[in-house]
Amino acid sequence: MSLHGKIVLITGGSRGIGRATARAFAAEGATVVLAGRDVTALADAVKEIGSGTAAEGTAGGAAGRADHVVADVADPASAARMVETVVARHGGLHVAVNNAGIIGAAGPVTDIDPAAWDEVLAVNLTGVFLSMKHEIAHMRAHGGGTIVNVASNIGAHRRLPGMAAYAASKAAVSVLTRTAALDHIGDGVRINAVSPGASDTPMSLRPGESETERAARMKASVPAGRVAATSEVASTILWLASDASTHVVGHDLVIDGGVTA
Ligand SMILES: NC(=O)c1ccc[n+]([C@@H]2O[C@H](COP(=O)([O-])OP(=O)(O)OC[C@H]3O[C@@H](n4cnc5c(N)ncnc54)[C@H](OP(=O)(O)O)[C@@H]3O)[C@@H](O)[C@H]2O)c1
Repeated sequence: MSLHGKIVLITGGSRGIGRATARAFAAEGATVVLAGRDVTALADAVKEIGSGTAAEGTAGGAAGRADHVVADVADPASAARMVETVVARHGGLHVAVNNAGIIGAAGPVTDIDPAAWDEVLAVNLTGVFLSMKHEIAHMRAHGGGTIVNVASNIGAHRRLPGMAAYAASKAAVSVLTRTAALDHIGDGVRINAVSPGASDTPMSLRPGESETERAARMKASVPAGRVAATSEVASTILWLASDASTHVVGHDLVIDGGVTA
């Protein structure tokens, strides 16, 4: 699955699943560009993933290079700048992983504040749309590419009470992915999604829950008995982005230890 020499943009690359994905691509020889809003967290991830030093904001090691771009995917101008910056600095864009997301508004529908609803949809859904819009425009004009969007098993595959905004946004990412795949496979841009179940990041902790309590909850509720390691989600994303999956188009691959089997 060598990604040697590929330029890879990973939104939400500073933490959790995005950071593990950046690590996995860098280990395969790719140049990874991490996008997010918090420059300190991005710089920390770049430092960890790269080794040695390179130009400002970048770190280069034998296995690959890491760089960051500050961007808010929910903001149309920022999302456009994000893709422009990657191309200007690195000379292209071959792979994009649209992973940035938030849990946001929780609770029953009657209790969801409209502004909180809008925020979840803006980041999780519109953020993927805006990112893809600019990624695809570049890729189709420069020989094609691959895109993997990060949805969730909560959404198209599973519903949970109190998660209406998040579930609606992620179900929409699944449908957006499959529709975009049909729109653009003829342009040489191959688009798929992954839908992780509870994964080993703070996002899967219930308010006030410890990791030990989460482990007990997972043992009781997940057929595989545990959360997904972020590396397990990352390796699936890597496969979908690589030439090992060239005829997989418009797929939404669930990674949830059997919860929705
Ligand atoms: N963890 C799970 O159990 C789980 C399960 C299923 C699906 N997922 C999905 O997997 C993805 C990653 O989850 P995670 O647990 O790794 O989350 P996380 O640890 O909270 O990381 C989220 C990342 O997204 C970035 N981000 C958030 N809002 C952004 C915005 N408006 N613009 C740009 N970047 C933004 C964050 O950086 P800044 O805050 O600095 O911008 C951070 O890098 C999400 O889409 C999530 O819904 C997670």
